[in-house]
Amino acid sequence: MLNKKLVLELAKKHDSFYLYDEKVIVENTERLKHDFKHVDFLYSIKTNSHPLVVKSVLLQGFGVDAASVAEVMLGKQNGVAKDKTQYSAPGKTKKDIEQTIDVSTIIADSLNEIMLIQQVAQEKKMVADIGIRINPNFSFYGEDAIPSKFGIDEQLLFEVIPQLKQLKNIKVVGLHIHLRSQELNASVLEKYYSNLVILAENFQKAIGQPLTFLNMGSGIGIPFSAEDTPLDTVYLGAATAKMMSQFRLRFPNLNVYIETGRYVVGKSGFYVTKVLDKKVSCGKTFLILKNTLNGFIRPSLAQLVMSYTEQKKPFASEPLFTCANPFELIALSDAAETEEVTLVGNLCTAADVVAKDIVLPKLQCQDVIVFTNAGSYAAVLSPMQFSSQEQPAQIFLSCKQGVINIDDAE
Ligand SMILES: Cc1ncc(COP(=O)(O)O)c(C=O)c1O
Repeated sequence: MLNKKLVLELAKKHDSFYLYDEKVIVENTERLKHDFKHVDFLYSIKTNSHPLVVKSVLLQGFGVDAASVAEVMLGKQNGVAKDKTQYSAPGKTKKDIEQTIDVSTIIADSLNEIMLIQQVAQEKKMVADIGIRINPNFSFYGEDAIPSKFGIDEQLLFEVIPQLKQLKNIKVVGLHIHLRSQELNASVLEKYYSNLVILAENFQKAIGQPLTFLNMGSGIGIPFSAEDTPLDTVYLGAATAKMMSQFRLRFPNLNVYIETGRYVVGKSGFYVTKVLDKKVSCGKTFLILKNTLNGFIRPSLAQLVMSYTEQKKPFASEPLFTCANPFELIALSDAAETEEVTLVGNLCTAADVVAKDIVLPKLQCQDVIVFTNAGSYAAVLSPMQFSSQEQPAQIFLSCKQGVINIDDAE
């Protein structure tokens, strides 16, 4: 729930800012832990790497899904164990591997990368437990494999198992599969999970040694637009438990992970901006807002995509574009009168359009507008350096300590 009084208070000091509400983060992590009792969760730090957000999620017992050396280190600073820190990204360098091999479980993304990890482990005279990311023989919706820049094709991986077993300094202990994000249909995820379980069983048989983890990637979505129906986590959790209870009889030492970012933090974030100027051009009323495309890019990207298509529901391109209206827009004004306006940003480009021809209460300069769904892929995606603008503040509303603004403390 948006705390309008707090937002207006903070807006006296900041012309644009993110507000992350820890209460929402805790509710979301609690719901996942409650509904999915047979699964452990990893927080996808790429979604929102604000240190207090990361700390808050990890304190709930989540492990780390890291996509870079820096994210591995953020997990380490928060005390996350090596086996609960999975480092998965394409194109890792030898240096990346050297820096992370002692503190994370590296997920190899290609055959070349397996050899690089073997080389680093040999130089360090160690045996590294690794996972392998697979591009499976099925897609998310059950069709055949799709060419992918991620992972190793399932068929190729099975073919090279004899060579893998020859490598003295690595031990394959887990599998990672991630095909897509933002699924709201529990049955689709249920089918996907059951395909993964079969794949893990087959791989374990083929390699002839026990796996310690199966990372099923993400997929768990959140409602972005008003038409979206929330994912039924109770149903999916129960279906997963049923699947796991059978699976675990045969593989008692296997940990099953689900990665998620947006589910945990997406709805915890609000982006707040102010009307800097108001003008009428050729009969159209423009409100010029502080730091929109450069502060919170997703609304402007949605406008851009929609301006190039006739389709009402173009295919998503996560995490940049989800749907036409991936947020709710709340104007904090008591004005009784309304008017049709176009919302734009304060950059020197005509591309920072946020919303066209919408009806809002009649706003004046300095009035405040809030965007919801700004906790995930928001600050981290936005080109804040563009035109050297003052950057939005990022404010954390802690359950115990109230408002914390890291920038103020520095
Ligand atoms: C491998 C992997 N895992 C997890 C995620 C996080 O997904 P989400 O934020 O949809 O939960 C992503 C997102 O791109 C990903 O690529």
